[in-house]
Amino acid sequence: MSIRFDSERNIFMLETQKTRYAIQIVFDKFPVNLYYGPKTDEPVAEYDPSVYSFSPYYADTRLNYCPDLVRAEYVGFDSGDFRTSSLKVRNANGDSMVVLHYKGYRIFDGREEIPGLPYADADEDTQTLELQMLDPVTNLEVMMYYTIFPKEDVISRYVKLTNNSTSKLVIEKCMSLLHDFTSHNYDMISLYGQHAMERKYQRVPLHYGQQNVFSRRGASSHHYNPFIALCEQGKGPDEGIAVGFNFVYSGNFLDEVEVDQQGYTRVQIGLGQDNFSYLLDKGESFTSPEAVMTYSYEGISQMSRNFHAFTRNHILPEEVFETRPVVLNTWEACYFNINEDVLEKFAESAAASGIDMVVMDDGWFGERNNDTAGLGDWYENRNKFKNGLTPFVKRMKSHGIKFGIWIEPEMVNPNSELFRAHPEWCLQCKGRELMQSRSQLVLDMGNPKVIQYLKDVFDMTFSGVGIDYFKWDMNRHLCHVGSPILPPERQGEAGFRYMLGVYELFRWFKKKFPKAMIENCSGGGGRYDLGMMKYSTMIWTSDNTDPHDRIKIQYSSMLGYPAATMSCHVANHDNIIETPQALKYRYDVALGGPVGYEFHLPNASDKVKETVKKQVADYHEKYEDLILRGDYYTVFNPYECNYSAHYYANGDMSRIMLTFLQDNPEEPAIVTVPVARADVDAVYVDVETGVKYTGAQLREGVKVLTENTDMNSKIWLFEKV
Ligand code: DGJ
Repeated sequence: MSIRFDSERNIFMLETQKTRYAIQIVFDKFPVNLYYGPKTDEPVAEYDPSVYSFSPYYADTRLNYCPDLVRAEYVGFDSGDFRTSSLKVRNANGDSMVVLHYKGYRIFDGREEIPGLPYADADEDTQTLELQMLDPVTNLEVMMYYTIFPKEDVISRYVKLTNNSTSKLVIEKCMSLLHDFTSHNYDMISLYGQHAMERKYQRVPLHYGQQNVFSRRGASSHHYNPFIALCEQGKGPDEGIAVGFNFVYSGNFLDEVEVDQQGYTRVQIGLGQDNFSYLLDKGESFTSPEAVMTYSYEGISQMSRNFHAFTRNHILPEEVFETRPVVLNTWEACYFNINEDVLEKFAESAAASGIDMVVMDDGWFGERNNDTAGLGDWYENRNKFKNGLTPFVKRMKSHGIKFGIWIEPEMVNPNSELFRAHPEWCLQCKGRELMQSRSQLVLDMGNPKVIQYLKDVFDMTFSGVGIDYFKWDMNRHLCHVGSPILPPERQGEAGFRYMLGVYELFRWFKKKFPKAMIENCSGGGGRYDLGMMKYSTMIWTSDNTDPHDRIKIQYSSMLGYPAATMSCHVANHDNIIETPQALKYRYDVALGGPVGYEFHLPNASDKVKETVKKQVADYHEKYEDLILRGDYYTVFNPYECNYSAHYYANGDMSRIMLTFLQDNPEEPAIVTVPVARADVDAVYVDVETGVKYTGAQLREGVKVLTENTDMNSKIWLFEKV
């Protein structure tokens, strides 16, 4: 598990626990990919040129090296490779071509920081390969970084560009990761959707041409997610090759997948190219966000587990509390109708039901009585909180609960004191009428004055108040992405600088309020990405709390992200929670991730309150550890049948939590739910009934009866005896 250089063959070998990745420098200039796959003892086959007509070459290599035909590592624009390129930089001659020659390498333990951006933390096994590349005409230096995370079988990539020329350079496209596959016998999995139905599962065969997913919305978005995977066609979840890709960034992205004339498939992950450019003055550098990939030859299921472990171990912030607090959120119960007395009732009923925290959602600040006013005015509304936040929070906590609060720092309503004082602090393009969405405008987070204002106002409002939890929301997408503080030639940087400002404010929050955790939200899961996960312990999965829709959203979110990130609430948007079956079903669905509640608990019947109390206790005592830290195995894909089934298990398979969720009513029938990874040498007990099963029996499956209702679900907890 390391990175080595074979100087005789000019081969770099990167090895993780189960995989290896090999690069050869050919003709002393060009890095080509030799291999990405299972770790074997066989030496990797060396570069073997393929020859087709209509592909350009240089005089010294002739057909032995045609950029258009090789498995590349990183490709300059217009460099003789007609497939999609990685780097496009306009130079003083007026062209945007980039040709990169290898100059040297460095292998070191750990990793380099990426200034201003989120990136994966190193552990004791992490190593990095740095390849130094140079464009001989423009003197643009490109450092290519490959960092290995051996235990999780993940390799990350990013580049650092430095302008060593005598004039300005303008970056027009800069991708972080390129990988060329030698076939296209793959299906591509991607997650698409819209607000309130994000991350839907799509698995389609690759075809010749491009099949990209992307965001041009200034946020990673509900509409496509940066996670994609290629998996062998015709294979089930536990078999065949599956290679997953993701991006540690929360703004515009581009995942390019292109099948070429040879039937090769190029995958690139990087910054969205539309509306992006970055001016590099002499001596300046630009570092791209980090992209990650993982290879599994045990199907998509193992690929997901690799990414789950990687996200838990290298991306997510440390847990602030010993156990993840079960929250009672006010939004779906109260919307903007909150005040001290309403909140006090929530605190009382939360405490009585064993709920750990009340989260006061939108509506507590400025003139925020509906969504048309107040954003930007981050001080408490004195009509609702007459003595201020500090005594109010103290009163809330006197019930023995923790307290969380909602914020949306990046936005401003035109009807706010902030906008009236500083209209120039919004993103805008000169002379254009501003466009609103949810009656709000977007602050120019690339403007240091805006960031300073936000730091000052949140410092003033929250310091010493005892907030345990921030729910950080973001409720519109970015258009007219121009910044009044940037000169015309730098306007293409506004979207990227926006993200740098957002990340800086996140880091400030984490430092200023180290004992508080952050739940991320963007109209639900509109920024469900590794960039946000670096700073937020979990993300509000979706504004859609219908349990049937959630089954699907949660299943597909788990393809790329661990359950620990998926904030799941038992909610009541159709007012049927009073039936015991509805409450149980919603809870069983919510047990896909850290559980919370979002309905009017104070007004609920005693029976409901008692049930909630039992659910919260069960969550903490029986399930939480497996959900947050266990390995996840899928059994039924809800996009392909009427059920969802999965299990979480600890490393030695001594505790297994199995979930079965029926999606639509159907005639009663017996369904077998196999627990294929149960330990065959063990005997298990069903903790609820005391019934014993051998591991072999569990592998065959447990039986469940389907029902003619749409609320049928079952959870088993098996423990080795
Ligand atoms: C959108 C979020 O997704 C909701 O949960 C809620 O916080 C509202 N914003 C508040 O405006």
